[in-house]
Amino acid sequence: MAVREILNDIYWVGAVDWGIRDFHGYSTYKGTTYNAFLVMDDKITLFDTVKKNKASDLLHHIRSLIDPRQIDYIVVNHVEMDHSGALPKVIKLVKPEKIFCSQMGKKAIEEHFHPKDWPLEAVKNGQTISLGKRTVQFIETRMLHWPDSMFSYIPEDALLISSDAFGEHLATSERFDDEVDFTVMMEQNAKYFANILMLYSPLIQKLLKNVTEMGIPIKMIAPDHGLIKRKYVGEMIKAYSDWSSCKAQKKAVVIYDSMWHSTEMMAKAVADGIMQEGVSVKLLDLEVNHRSDIMTEVLGAKAVAMGSPTLNNGLLPRMAGCLMYMRGLRPCGKIGAAFGSYGWSGEAVKLLNQAMEEMKFNIIDEGIRVKYVPTHNDLKKCVDLGKRLAQAVKAELGE
Ligand code: FEO
Repeated sequence: MAVREILNDIYWVGAVDWGIRDFHGYSTYKGTTYNAFLVMDDKITLFDTVKKNKASDLLHHIRSLIDPRQIDYIVVNHVEMDHSGALPKVIKLVKPEKIFCSQMGKKAIEEHFHPKDWPLEAVKNGQTISLGKRTVQFIETRMLHWPDSMFSYIPEDALLISSDAFGEHLATSERFDDEVDFTVMMEQNAKYFANILMLYSPLIQKLLKNVTEMGIPIKMIAPDHGLIKRKYVGEMIKAYSDWSSCKAQKKAVVIYDSMWHSTEMMAKAVADGIMQEGVSVKLLDLEVNHRSDIMTEVLGAKAVAMGSPTLNNGLLPRMAGCLMYMRGLRPCGKIGAAFGSYGWSGEAVKLLNQAMEEMKFNIIDEGIRVKYVPTHNDLKKCVDLGKRLAQAVKAELGE
């Protein structure tokens, strides 16, 4: 990929990973990018690096502009290996005067790389440094999404280098938000939020409030993944505000797994009931939907219905895995309902309800259990469950 000047004397020098399809359990069907930015000022500064196996891409890009040894400073906004894996190679070559990171970042760098003589300089929240014509202000974003995470803000360009926030896993030859299809970008952006940041929603609310109170103008957001935002900065911040405040649409999802299609029949009947009440619904079979895509659908849905048959006194393994993943991400403000078929013991519905209780879902009733194969009457009860779920959605949304 070619180097791109994103602002006067500021260059994208990162790497595009077209082939990655799994990011520690998150499906990345559309690849990703590891963005790094080179600021040409009196102190030439590199913001973030890339994954270890992409170090040569980064260095090739830097070399097309300068000799890497001319770099004075490196800023490490985030120590996770997709942004720091190339650090040892880069530092060995560059021999930077200083490496700036957060206080927790310094610890994390030491614990990842065990360096002997790296010129690490921990910065505090709000601290500024001068690069010459520009300054950099560091904004600590602890636990968004690692303890070390921080943003770098360049006021002269109203540029926010935002680490993992506001990004998406999307490999493109384009670098800016206005050069791609908005819907495609936002789908991947929502997926990123749902799978990486959802559990930190209260902290995101606090951060957005702090940044608003700081009154800093932001004309461009340069995240460490995906597209640089210059046209849709406002839309991006609004989306984060909505998602982190549990705002949901008039929409439900029915997530299920099935052994011999009985729970599937029930899932369809629940979805029918939801539809009949005029609420949008998506039927998500765990056999064909990846858990990370399911979480993207859950993000914007007001209601979540979950169905599983009972297997060996428990849930089907795919449902158990999906629930474990979902519990970790802590979706907020959802209405829930459970259903499932069984042969003799029938614990699945109880287990689904327990999981939803833990996630503080508003569960509409004890759910529906059906022995072996549902009758027409059983399916009517499932339709009714769907209707009541949809009515609860409309009531909570004030309709
Ligand atoms: Fe993209 Fe948390 O690393």
